[in-house]
Amino acid sequence: MNFDPTTGKMASSSCVFGVLGKSGDYFAVLGVLFVSYFGLKVALTFIRFIRSLAHGGLASLINKPGTWAVVTGCTDGIGKAYAEQIAKLGLNIVLISRTESKLNAVASDIESKYKVKTMIIQADFTNGTDIYPNIRTKLQGMDISVLVNNVGLSYDYPEFFLQITDREKKCMDLIHVNVTSVAMMTSIVLPGMVERRHGVVLNISSASGKRPTPLLTVYSACKAFVSFFSDCLQTEYGSSGITIQCVMPFFVATNMSKIRKTSLFVPSASTYVQSALQTVGLEQETYGYFPHKLMGFGMEWLPKWLIVLQGMKGMLAASAKAKRRQQEKKE
Ligand SMILES: NC(=O)c1ccc[n+]([C@@H]2O[C@H](COP(=O)([O-])OP(=O)(O)OC[C@H]3O[C@@H](n4cnc5c(N)ncnc54)[C@H](OP(=O)(O)O)[C@@H]3O)[C@@H](O)[C@H]2O)c1
Repeated sequence: MNFDPTTGKMASSSCVFGVLGKSGDYFAVLGVLFVSYFGLKVALTFIRFIRSLAHGGLASLINKPGTWAVVTGCTDGIGKAYAEQIAKLGLNIVLISRTESKLNAVASDIESKYKVKTMIIQADFTNGTDIYPNIRTKLQGMDISVLVNNVGLSYDYPEFFLQITDREKKCMDLIHVNVTSVAMMTSIVLPGMVERRHGVVLNISSASGKRPTPLLTVYSACKAFVSFFSDCLQTEYGSSGITIQCVMPFFVATNMSKIRKTSLFVPSASTYVQSALQTVGLEQETYGYFPHKLMGFGMEWLPKWLIVLQGMKGMLAASAKAKRRQQEKKE
């Protein structure tokens, strides 16, 4: 603080910053607060990760082995990993997906490995609401304790909205697979869960539902629906014994991501799901896997405009690469 001996008063600038000294001190204090808050958030993320290892995840919430889990989009990738790992916990599995031969193969594999029952329902979720009467009839009266709304559809490659090939059909397909399926499957399964006052609904969204991803506009917006849907539903039905979790992966090595090689930040579907299942009952909204949590943490901290700009750059590069490959194939 600066005291002016000629006037006997505090210098005006000192009055303004009287409590903290010079203006630089403000920045220092802000810096300390920022670093402390950031450090606290990282520490909490780490503590949650450690807690999830001890918690038991989905296993600790299943009080009736021998009941059923329903998994959509389950013949490959993340959905197949959920089906297998839930079967491992002793639940029977209803497999709903598009390709009958793949459904049969996954069903017999699960039955022989995990000694549980399976039931298959062939359905193409791009067919809109037509498929649900059959699904409803087949699930009637079953004791379903877990629903995994996993089926998803993305773009063939990132593209400007108006340049999407067969745009209006693609939009409807994206909405039916990513949005209609989540609302309709939940509508079919949730009443029984609420009646029994027990159930777990796992909705597979995406990190692109947390922050806008240009050039995957419709997909990103659909996944934002999944995030909001999950959040609101948890508030409505949490007190009825229902656990709803929204899972938001970054890249996982599957057919959809077109990434074959796994790495620390791009896990295999089974590594990802093993980790995500540990967070059920602990985290209502989760990136599911520790390295993805760190990425999500960074993404939420950076300003939205920067994330969107970087996303746009990345997607432009991916789009150009995909088009080059297409051209090479044609030639
Ligand atoms: N992989 C990633 O990097 C990533 C990142 C963020 C979020 N996600 C989300 O994770 C979920 C699973 O993705 P994934 O990467 O595991 O996908 P995937 O490997 O492509 O598997 C998709 C599964 O869904 C089925 N399916 C696709 N379209 C269908 C349709 N119209 N009707 C019925 N079944 C259909 C497929 O069956 P067929 O075998 O018959 O095609 C397959 O079993 C999706 O919701 C996706 O948005 C993935």
